[in-house]
Amino acid sequence: MANTLALTQRPAWKALGEHYRNIRDLHLRTLFAEDPRRGERFAAEAAGLYLDYSKHRVTAETMNLLFELARQSGLRERIDAMFAGEKINLTENRAVLHVALRAPRGSTIMVDGENVVPKVHEVLDRMAEFSHAVRGGSWQGHTGKRIRNVINVGIGGSDLGPVMAYEALRHYADPNLTVRFVSNVDGTDFAVATAGLDPAETLFIISSKTFTTLETMTNARTARQWTLDALHDEGAVARHFVAVSTNAAEVAKFGIDTRNMFGFWDWVGGRYSMDSAIGLSTMIAVGPDHFQAMLSGFHAIDEHFRTAPFERNLPVIMGLLAVWYNDFFGAQTVGIFPYDQYLKRFPAYLQQLTMESNGKHVTLDGRQVDYQTGPIFWGEPGTNGQHSFYQLIHQGTKLIPADFIAFCRTLNPLGRHHDLLTANVLAQAEALAFGKTPEQVKAEGTPERLVPHRVCEGNRPSSIIMADQLTPEVLGKLVALYEHSVFTQGCVWSIDSFDQWGVELGKVLALRIIPELESGAEPQLNHDSSTNLLIRRYRERRKG
Ligand code: F6P
Repeated sequence: MANTLALTQRPAWKALGEHYRNIRDLHLRTLFAEDPRRGERFAAEAAGLYLDYSKHRVTAETMNLLFELARQSGLRERIDAMFAGEKINLTENRAVLHVALRAPRGSTIMVDGENVVPKVHEVLDRMAEFSHAVRGGSWQGHTGKRIRNVINVGIGGSDLGPVMAYEALRHYADPNLTVRFVSNVDGTDFAVATAGLDPAETLFIISSKTFTTLETMTNARTARQWTLDALHDEGAVARHFVAVSTNAAEVAKFGIDTRNMFGFWDWVGGRYSMDSAIGLSTMIAVGPDHFQAMLSGFHAIDEHFRTAPFERNLPVIMGLLAVWYNDFFGAQTVGIFPYDQYLKRFPAYLQQLTMESNGKHVTLDGRQVDYQTGPIFWGEPGTNGQHSFYQLIHQGTKLIPADFIAFCRTLNPLGRHHDLLTANVLAQAEALAFGKTPEQVKAEGTPERLVPHRVCEGNRPSSIIMADQLTPEVLGKLVALYEHSVFTQGCVWSIDSFDQWGVELGKVLALRIIPELESGAEPQLNHDSSTNLLIRRYRERRKG
């Protein structure tokens, strides 16, 4: 792994600080006026994805300095180390090999002296066989009924990817199958997901890397009870439950036959696992061929990320732009605005991918960072967001760099809808960049007192990612784009993008509080005065 200087000591970082002071007031209007070919110059394309980053507050010099920063941060070496199966997740001493999940059959990726690609394909083949059996009706429920409902039980990476992919690929899903998801330990989630379903026709996929997660195990036990209450036979579990996990021992302990378990490995992070066996619900919904197409999309961007020069490398460009706004402009958030209703869960999916990965306050060698790391990701599909929070992006006091995702063709051609949708995404990016000057506002005959209210300063940066159509392959490409952008950012910040220790503390404290809520006798409470009081109030009032 490259031995790099501390981030703030890297020459390119210092040069960027200086450069920022020179260009921070430069307006996108000026940048476009000075260079009629800016739209072409600040664009890159890979595997059919077109990235227009011309509406960013950058010059050629900015980009050169950012690329230099990537080099001085050892990005090339880190990419090579990841693809070579080195243990780049230092705090957990693990390789980071989601790229192996989509490596073509016959390729070689070594971990601890073993080629993992054949194992990946063995599981994919079993998943395909099982998916065909469920979709074709040869895998039946305990009473011989056909499986019509599939419920994925999981949380975090074992839920967000499958939900997002199912929603994104609904167009390709088998309409005869009802696919639902249960994640929250709030019983309402389970109750709503199972409402109206016949247990004899319902298959549960218990998805958990560790198979110890409180929420998932609680929901899995409730699911078993729900099934047994209706089918009255322990033997039913074998036909109505399969597991996706790395932990065969816990799967067996739960009572699921490990022959009905689909495995993955510790080198797959939860938030990077939607294309592992964790994607079983996706595969059942859309079929193995579409799932395979999605994997090819991932792989196309993996290869692009691994081989393309930084100057034409989409995830590198996106990652460096995120660093630029986060660390120099002081932007706190990034808005993700897909102009496709099927991508409605994409921002939520990206929240875990980006924020669990790069929400870190120490460097790989344990030093407190003296710069900002991961920004907050959020968003909603367009055009809905336009009638809600876009006002703040246009005229508020916060700088919110935005990613717009657009498609040239819709999956649901209905009259003028798609042209109207596309007109809106293009218009938003244009309005954010160029705004409306006081002169323009006055020329419209606006009364003087209203002029300041109607001025839009512009200079709000955004990218447009444009693809032809939302296919399984394109979905894989989009996700891989963000995975590698997150990697690029983490590399510049010298943090471990693959651990998540912060999540643990809350889990441990919850385990302590559970018996204090449940015990019959008045418990001895040793929390802070606020927590003690809230526990007592809950105990007193929960019976209604
Ligand atoms: O919430 C933290 C986390 O560890 C995530 O990283 C992970 O995706 C999720 O919990 C679920 O974990 P598991 O798949 O082991 O149930």
